Amino acid sequence: MSDVLHKKFYELNLTDRLTQLSRESGVPLDELKVLSGNGGLSADQADHMVENAVGVFGLPLGVARNFLVNGREVLVPMAVEEPSVIAGASFMAKLARQGGGFTASASAPEMIGQLQVLDVADLKEASTKLDGHRAELLEMASAVDPVLVRYGGGARDLQVRLIEQSAIGPFLVVHLVLDVRDAMGANAINTALERIAPRVAEISGGRVHLRILSNLADRRLASAACTIPLEALAFEGYSAEKVRDGILEACAFAEADPYRAATHNKGIMNGVDAVVLATGNDWRAVEAGAHAYSARSGRYTSLSTWSKDAQGNLCGLLEMPMAVGIVGGATRVHPAAQAALKLMKVTTGAELAEIIVSVGLAQNLAALRALATEGIQRGHMSLHARQIAAAAGARGDQIEKLAQQLVLEKTIRAERAEEILKEWRK
Ligand code: MEV
Repeated sequence: MSDVLHKKFYELNLTDRLTQLSRESGVPLDELKVLSGNGGLSADQADHMVENAVGVFGLPLGVARNFLVNGREVLVPMAVEEPSVIAGASFMAKLARQGGGFTASASAPEMIGQLQVLDVADLKEASTKLDGHRAELLEMASAVDPVLVRYGGGARDLQVRLIEQSAIGPFLVVHLVLDVRDAMGANAINTALERIAPRVAEISGGRVHLRILSNLADRRLASAACTIPLEALAFEGYSAEKVRDGILEACAFAEADPYRAATHNKGIMNGVDAVVLATGNDWRAVEAGAHAYSARSGRYTSLSTWSKDAQGNLCGLLEMPMAVGIVGGATRVHPAAQAALKLMKVTTGAELAEIIVSVGLAQNLAALRALATEGIQRGHMSLHARQIAAAAGARGDQIEKLAQQLVLEKTIRAERAEEILKEWRK
């Protein structure tokens, strides 16, 4: 036991890590146990979630450490297959906490739903009529879900847009804005849209075609900021100024060039998706929103910005749509997602969004810091070497020893790993 207490988290075995998480979070070990093993979802449970189920698909689940978000310590579960992601986020969170951690916020959880209104005789007149019936339509939309209204949610706005040019000519689009509180909200908004569609057709004299939410959830934004004290940036042979300026140059590249911006944003999504996935949320929705939002000016660009303050410290900012919830959908039925939410101690969807965007910013910093200095391969290689070592048949402590040997020899290849193992076994 005393040995366990002196070890770093990553040096513990899987069982001891879980015990430590339970101790740190106060969540009973029994409630966290579902996180260990093979994904916390049985084939029977999967059968109730999708059609034609034949089983479940596993991914590694790790926990990022050192996160301080709005002054609160958070243990962050991340489901991701890529090495270096969890270690990168944890390490950057450690640097960020030297500057007070992450300051994050989330806007009201307002989702946008769209109705495509076609075959309208007079677009202008129909638009004015729809505007005139705003209160009635909002009331109708809110009435769909009285529970949502009781929790403070419901319809907030109705906007009529004119699409002037399209392959089928001009048409109207009605946006329904619905506050979905702690749900992701796809079902709530789609149900409300289907309910008001016939009335919108009547009022406009047109035909309502598509009735579906928009993943460009730009009324449901989350943002995170952090300040990394200049001196925290120095490492090995790199001065703090060199690291900081290298990161600023890297960021300028992403801001100016969509080819780089796509990769820069992918680095952000490494962190974002891993938490979205671990909490049972819809990561395709978050991905779609992120990339559409980065192109909102008409040119695809970086989701984050990095700058220096008057003292020369490095300041990061990330803002993006974050349509995630803590009730309903897979977050409710997936036992591991439930345990992940307990571990994070989030009580609202907004709080979850704030943590996710903080992880995205940390992940972005991890990538930029590596790219601006030694490159990403060194960090990647040691973890890659562990995978090669395990695949070659190394077990237990042998995996780390063999991985280190492969890195030392700068030959991270399966044949060499097998050769070394053979030599050791002789
Ligand atoms: C790799 O998964 C992510 C990076 O490519 C991100 C980036 O280039 O900023 C390292």
